[in-house]
Amino acid sequence: MPAETWWKNGIVYQIYPRSFQDSNGDGVGDLPGITSRLDYLVDLGIDAVWISPIYPSPMADFGYDVSDYCGVHPLFGTLADFDRLVAEVHRRGLKLILDFVPNHTSDQHPWFVESRSSRSNPKRDWYIWRDPRPDGSPPNNWVSNFGGSAWEFDEATGQYYYHAFLRQQPDLNWRNPELREAMYDVLRFWLDRGVDGFRVDVIWHLIKDAEFRDNPPNPAWHPERPEIESLLQVHSSDQEEVHEVIAEMRRVLDGYRDRVLIGEIYLPTERLVAYYGKDLSGAHLPFNFQLIQTAWNARAIAKLVDEYEAALPQGGWPNWVLGNHDQPRIAARVGAEQARVAAMLLLTLRGTPTMYYGDEIGIGRVEIPPDRVQDPWEKNEPGLGFNRDPERTPMQWDASRFAGFSTVEPWLPLAPGHERQNVAVLSADPGSILNLYRALIRLRRGTRALAIGDYQPIRTEGHVFGFLRSHGSERLAVFLNLSGEPIPVKLVSPCDGMRVKLSTFLDRVDERVGSNVALRPNEGLILG
Ligand code: NOJ
Repeated sequence: MPAETWWKNGIVYQIYPRSFQDSNGDGVGDLPGITSRLDYLVDLGIDAVWISPIYPSPMADFGYDVSDYCGVHPLFGTLADFDRLVAEVHRRGLKLILDFVPNHTSDQHPWFVESRSSRSNPKRDWYIWRDPRPDGSPPNNWVSNFGGSAWEFDEATGQYYYHAFLRQQPDLNWRNPELREAMYDVLRFWLDRGVDGFRVDVIWHLIKDAEFRDNPPNPAWHPERPEIESLLQVHSSDQEEVHEVIAEMRRVLDGYRDRVLIGEIYLPTERLVAYYGKDLSGAHLPFNFQLIQTAWNARAIAKLVDEYEAALPQGGWPNWVLGNHDQPRIAARVGAEQARVAAMLLLTLRGTPTMYYGDEIGIGRVEIPPDRVQDPWEKNEPGLGFNRDPERTPMQWDASRFAGFSTVEPWLPLAPGHERQNVAVLSADPGSILNLYRALIRLRRGTRALAIGDYQPIRTEGHVFGFLRSHGSERLAVFLNLSGEPIPVKLVSPCDGMRVKLSTFLDRVDERVGSNVALRPNEGLILG
């Protein structure tokens, strides 16, 4: 697929390294494990692998608390294992994207150890230190994303430090130019080792209000929601100056050939698109999480796609994400039948799709017994239903005791039914969700209209969402039934007389449709 760069026409696949493949029998996935499974990814047909953090870390937040940006945690292997992974990825024509976590470090990072050692330490200003209010209370009302105050008092130096996440994750001060340079050196360290880009953790958090004003209360908040939502995050994130920082990161990447900058951003569409930056100087792909957040119905989805398409800046390339390690799995959210419709949606919309490991085998709901809870958020705010462990369970490769993931009990329980729901069994089942993913990816890769073509909504009603994708004379229509009822759809030009290219049930291929097509319950069709 020439003419377009890989991150536009390619498919990104996220791996949570702890849970993909254990190679040394400790119950935790690792880099050699990932390397050993690359042929599976080639066969699946994806283009780029994004791996969640693999750096040295005390693992308070499972690697999002980094204590050394330029190393590999022994749990995951060594730098030599990493270099081998890069080489093997590239040998197969794939790309490797690293997770870059610049908003905060671990409290064990040598920078923070220095910073907290005294008020006059040269690294003091690399973090965010503020005096208590006169009554000794925290400098403002900001709340941690994992609950409780976002400020931690340091007895020794008499100041509070700010942490948007755990208290073991102090926020870095991105207003400090030295810190910025140190972080750009980190980017260069990995770029020089051959990585093809970064997914930047909570990129919209990097700059905070210069005056640290209180966040206003959120009138819509309800105590069953996480505490972070009790305040509107107007001063603690999404500040105008963040775009200057992102443009600087982008310039570092632009010093290398063909690298991609992806930003993790949870904001409404109109704010999100600002992260393409002025004249597209920002993230190539500001992650678009709307398919994760939307109510799963045809009208809501049709509306959000139209609004997103309309909001994109000139030349800004769209992207879609269906799941990640922080969100309930798609099959848990919408059920096994609609998960197939969701797969078709993700892989036919205009824009780079990001898949999450295990969704292609339909991993759904997993109950985590209380004594096996790992997620620090669940430990901080138990019982609210925000435990992220269920979406982090091990990949299911075969029907063996530990699903081919490990030879011992894994760090998180396997999903129920893994004996039947695994790569080996589903590969052999012609109608499986795994084979649907393979067929969708093959079709997308082989069809310019799907990979890079234009998007045009088709007027549909009720539970059906339809759209056209076209490139030159190539034209495809997609009709998705978001309900469990059969629905007849009337077709007008140019869709009437088309043939079925793919059904989510993997049958009907080549069936010619007239001026009507009958969508079965939970069926998606691609016509062409
Ligand atoms: C977003 C990451 O995806 C999540 O897993 C992590 O807990 C927070 N950022 C803090 O780094």
